[in-house]
Amino acid sequence: MCGIVGFSGHHQAAPILLEGLSKLEYRGYDSAGLAVRDKDRMAEVVKSNGRLKVLAEMTDNGNALKGTTGIGHTRWATHGAPSKINAHPHVSGNCTNSGSGTVESEVVGVHNGIIENYQELKEKLIKKSYQFYSQTDTEVAVKLVDYYYKKYGIGPIDAIAKAMVRIRGSYALELMFQEYPDEIWVARKESPMIIGIANGESFIASDVPAILKHTRDVYYIDNLEFACVKPGEVHFYNLNGDEVKKETVRITWDAEAAEKGGFEHFMMKEIHEQPKAVKETLASVLKNGKIDLSSVGLSEEEIKKFSGITIVACGSAWHVGMVAQYVFEDLAGIPVRVELASEYRYRKPIFYENELVIVISQSGETADSLAALRLANENNVETLAIVNVVGSSIAREAKKVFYTLAGPEISVATTKAYSAQLICCYALATEFARIRQKIDAKYYKYLIEELESIPEKIDIIIKDKERIQWFASKQTNARDVFYIGRGIDYAIGLEGSLKLKEISYIHCEAYAAGELKHGTISLIEEGTLVIGILTQRSLYEKTLSNMLEVKSRGAYLASVTTYGNYNIEDTTNFNVYIPNIDEHFSASLAVIPLQLMGYYISLGKGLDVDKPRNLAKSVTVE
Ligand code: M6R
Repeated sequence: MCGIVGFSGHHQAAPILLEGLSKLEYRGYDSAGLAVRDKDRMAEVVKSNGRLKVLAEMTDNGNALKGTTGIGHTRWATHGAPSKINAHPHVSGNCTNSGSGTVESEVVGVHNGIIENYQELKEKLIKKSYQFYSQTDTEVAVKLVDYYYKKYGIGPIDAIAKAMVRIRGSYALELMFQEYPDEIWVARKESPMIIGIANGESFIASDVPAILKHTRDVYYIDNLEFACVKPGEVHFYNLNGDEVKKETVRITWDAEAAEKGGFEHFMMKEIHEQPKAVKETLASVLKNGKIDLSSVGLSEEEIKKFSGITIVACGSAWHVGMVAQYVFEDLAGIPVRVELASEYRYRKPIFYENELVIVISQSGETADSLAALRLANENNVETLAIVNVVGSSIAREAKKVFYTLAGPEISVATTKAYSAQLICCYALATEFARIRQKIDAKYYKYLIEELESIPEKIDIIIKDKERIQWFASKQTNARDVFYIGRGIDYAIGLEGSLKLKEISYIHCEAYAAGELKHGTISLIEEGTLVIGILTQRSLYEKTLSNMLEVKSRGAYLASVTTYGNYNIEDTTNFNVYIPNIDEHFSASLAVIPLQLMGYYISLGKGLDVDKPRNLAKSVTVE
């Protein structure tokens, strides 16, 4: 989704803003813009359609824009097509030249989120003689602030508070007022925004990587709060205009973790970081060979009392939930339902006594997952978030938090966060099983050893990546691909198929192998690639039969299965073997070749692996 940066200090703002925006490119965007000013100069706005490098070229890497205070934005279009005029910043006054140039306006602003009542506000402002140049909801917000600012004439605090009361929807807003030269005003509802201070200068961003180079101590601005950011100073206010005191939060991610570190793409780097992400996440709850959930805030009494679990998430995090369902039910004997957050939040789910709702999210900002969490909180059930980003909205609003220690994930296609989320679920399920007396001490010890073996086994699979690259290089022209499997293998296929779709743009579906005959098999043509996933011993023969059925209708077969299942070579054309592991945990290993398949096919097609078209890393609008 859109990215926001801001700077007020002693250095020239534009190069710092451009560098910050480059760290947010992974979020997905289609246009970009800057507004920069000095004490005695009005803001100058430069906007471009397309990649950030166009904006960098237009401004000589920022050097052509003079000023020590500025705001910047990368836009992911919601209201109005991607274009220069719709790109941010937007201004309160009249504008020419697609909105670029020196600005005569009182207010200049950028915005992340969606203003739901923008049509109604626009009509009101048109009646007050405001003219609109773009199709964006952002221009409406900027002009609304300007309207209140001029109408009441008592400064930004009042104007912003009044606009916030009037606006419905979500926003992270960044505004500069002509009469307040070195100040940037920010306001927040739902969309994330952080502010960091270092060496007498201030940095604003919608996401941590944009300011990591400058500071790791950040303020989180809360919902319905706003702030005035000056060089080295920030003041927070609530909607009444009262000042709110805040403490900084230390970000433990280091700046290097957000760089490519010699890899061609973030996705490949993050695939390689999976052993570490899994190891560190597991270590955070493993004490003397036992799982200790005290840091998560779960006591033995609570775990005994839960009558069921609902897992809510989106995308890959939902796929983690699909795996976790099998693991929790089979190991801990507790009923689990898995819900897409976008459906759950609107379908009046029935809450029950002693229910545990687990929300899984890498970013902690996914709008639907956050709404689902709030719904669960409002209905007074226990809520637990599995989250990667410390201080994110979901982490702050969940009653209990289990952090994945994956570090910053930059590639849009998730890999290491998915793996770290799986480990959290396995650790929870294993401990639930022990406490609820579903497994004995010997099996518990064995499960822990199996969990500890995952990082090394992932490494073994990654080391064999060239074979997968060879196979993937032959699939770049595929039109349709199917992943099939049963049980956990089906859930693994869901993630594999999303990886292929999102970065290689090949149509790919995952099917529960037993469902093929109920319709999907009619899609199989001569040469259609079908990849069977067979990691569950009791389901091996069943899935193999389904593979034979598609083969006899022309399918070209490949498989991912465990060491020892070499008889599969009688049936298939290509196989990837993964190390043996307790079958509950096989997703952690089987997903690795599928991630690599997606990566290498995308690479083979010459696509932008880390920034696939139309997608955003963090989906902060519904
Ligand atoms: O930040 P979240 O984990 O809440 O994001 C959920 C999905 O948007 C995310 O997993 C998405 O499906 C990934 N791009 C998949 O690779």
